[in-house]
Amino acid sequence: MSNIKPSNELSFLQAGSLIRRGGLVAFPTETVYGLGVNASNDKAVASLFKAKQRPEFNPLVLHLVDAKSAERLAFVDEKTKMLIRRFWPGSLTIVLKRKPEAPISELVSAGLDTIALRVPSSPIAHALLRSAACPVAATSANSSGMISPTIAAHVEESFGNKIDMILDGGKCTVGVESTILDMSEEQPVLLRSGVVPLEDIEAIIGRVERKDTKESIRHYAPKLSIRLNAASAKKGEALLGFGDAPDADMNLSRNKDVTEAAANLFAMIRELDKGDFTGIAVMPIPEEGLGVAINDRLAKTLIQKKQDNSKK
Ligand code: TXA
Ligand code: MG
Repeated sequence: MSNIKPSNELSFLQAGSLIRRGGLVAFPTETVYGLGVNASNDKAVASLFKAKQRPEFNPLVLHLVDAKSAERLAFVDEKTKMLIRRFWPGSLTIVLKRKPEAPISELVSAGLDTIALRVPSSPIAHALLRSAACPVAATSANSSGMISPTIAAHVEESFGNKIDMILDGGKCTVGVESTILDMSEEQPVLLRSGVVPLEDIEAIIGRVERKDTKESIRHYAPKLSIRLNAASAKKGEALLGFGDAPDADMNLSRNKDVTEAAANLFAMIRELDKGDFTGIAVMPIPEEGLGVAINDRLAKTLIQKKQDNSKK
């Protein structure tokens, strides 16, 4: 049986409730279909990465009902406010510094201290976000490596019944992804070209630097050094456990569940990083399911630290 539902009041209610309770719901936006989850729920966010079968953690975009919600979650400066007044609701995603108290899973930002926000203009997306009544993190609703879906049937091809509901809103009116602009530093940077032309943005805030997302993402790196595949901690080190590990300072998943480990990864590393340790020893994590993405991210953390150190 297909889990594509026509959009109406009843399906909005069901979809909103599914998201609040940690489910995965695909919904149309004016750009492309998104696969959304409750952004405050670590496990739900991990299950989104699992469904997407992405071999790495790319940060997700938060989809909000209005600009007011943005100010509760991120630091919004004057230039950004001008962009918001001009382009929201609409197809501009803005990356900002997240507020420390924002009740958003660390996994949404892949451990970064920034967060990508957008208020979509699609009335169906809006109805769903209203009904969910929580910040919704979403990514384009395609499996990793496939192009972004613009009709419900594309979403079904990628995910079938692996997700809880596909809200059908017909064909996306725009059909191209949003423009992504990084406003988290002094100099605005274009991370992805999209629907909103750069000239329109520059007409409002002046010169924007152009960069490609892939080269510009600075991977999250803790202050402490990380040691992978550790059987135990050396003197002074914190032990981040996986599986049975009575000596661990924190445990990613006692049940050896890689999805649970992904849900805990960034929050636990951040917590240990605050402690009085000389480094963080991480027990081996199997290369299966989200374990691949966890190991990839830990390896990138090491590379980022080496780059940071060589700059010092
Ligand atoms: O039109 C769109 O933006 C669609 C619809 C569903 O809203 N969404 C979309 O999501 O295209 P996704 O996950 O396929 O692409 C979002 C991009 C990713 O390349 C990610 O790296 C980047 O946004 N991104 C998210 N958070 C970021 C952050 N904090 N810093 C830099 N880049 C970020
Ligand atoms: Mg995508």
